[in-house]
Amino acid sequence: MMTKKDYVWKVSAAGRVNLIGEHVDYCGGKVLPAALSLCNTVYVRPNGTDKINLAWTDLPDRITVDLTKLDEYRNVKYANYPAGSAYIWQQAGHKLVGCDMLHECTVPFGSGLSSSAAIEVSTIAALATVAGEPIDPVEIALAAQKAEREYTGVNCGIMDQYASACGKKNHAILLDCKTLEREYVPIQLGDYALVIANCKKPHNLVESKYNERRAETEEALRLLQGEARIECLAELTPDEFSRHERLLSGKVRDRARHVVEECERVRQAAAAMKRGDMRVLGRLLNASHASLKNLYEVTGVELDTLAETAQKHPACIGSRMTGAGFGGCTVSLVKSEEVESFKVFVAERYRKAIGYDAEFYDTSIGDGITVAKIK
Ligand code: GLA
Repeated sequence: MMTKKDYVWKVSAAGRVNLIGEHVDYCGGKVLPAALSLCNTVYVRPNGTDKINLAWTDLPDRITVDLTKLDEYRNVKYANYPAGSAYIWQQAGHKLVGCDMLHECTVPFGSGLSSSAAIEVSTIAALATVAGEPIDPVEIALAAQKAEREYTGVNCGIMDQYASACGKKNHAILLDCKTLEREYVPIQLGDYALVIANCKKPHNLVESKYNERRAETEEALRLLQGEARIECLAELTPDEFSRHERLLSGKVRDRARHVVEECERVRQAAAAMKRGDMRVLGRLLNASHASLKNLYEVTGVELDTLAETAQKHPACIGSRMTGAGFGGCTVSLVKSEEVESFKVFVAERYRKAIGYDAEFYDTSIGDGITVAKIK
């Protein structure tokens, strides 16, 4: 039985929380995510074969993946994410080296904190490391996104993989998803702290619903382009949108309105964060949640109960769902000294309303990819 010390490198990539800018990355908008200290770590060493031997610290499974047949693991549970990432990296022209990998994931699965991005990004970074290649976090993020889209079938944007690869300790990333320009914004919350809570909804249809929302925004764009000279929905200001919205109807109009207004909220939130105006930031979080509930319809009773209960606590100035939605986590801005009483308040009410427990995570804002030599 190999232990962590038997490997040569330790390569990690982060989970993420998105502060604001939800469901706008695939519409060319700006987002404000931050990498978490929760991460996926790959312990890796070359093994002189043309195979990757996969092992996990918390699973009994041992799966060997053949580097000459990487296309064939799409339906192999657990192996599909590392194999898909390796496949896309190989397709991009990178040399792959056979290796032993031990995966250790502290990002809870299905939490909406991007465990899959952390696995994809750390797998590619580990492969680059054993092959002696320099690490280019943006290139790795783009390849990881491609793996998620083409190998596992979720038509995602770039936010998760980018944050997982390029995150910076104690900073949020103001990322323009159209140009990939970024700005690191220090997370200085004054007397406030971020609290992340998982609603623990057991089964959600995140993949099919996610792809459906994407298609609706594409439909909105196509219709608006009949009049407006735009390449993506995020280019419209709310005023411009109101001039053209009669081209849209029903749900498609609601989805587009969410995107346009959420982009405006991101602009205001980044400015509020820079000047330390936590009250404004909190109000924008609440408005974002309401829009994701009413216009984009990606919340559900569990996330609504969690966020809206949080919003009722006197020490909480803002709370919203984070990530794709349909389940997963909320992020709340809470007076630091009252975090414990806040958790008790929310936990009790949530259990009473929903019938099972929410879960709170102790995590901080960490780095994206990190590589350390073990021996
Ligand atoms: C998922 C996707 C991201 C983004 C969010 C919603 O996390 O992977 O690309 O679209 O949902 O903001």
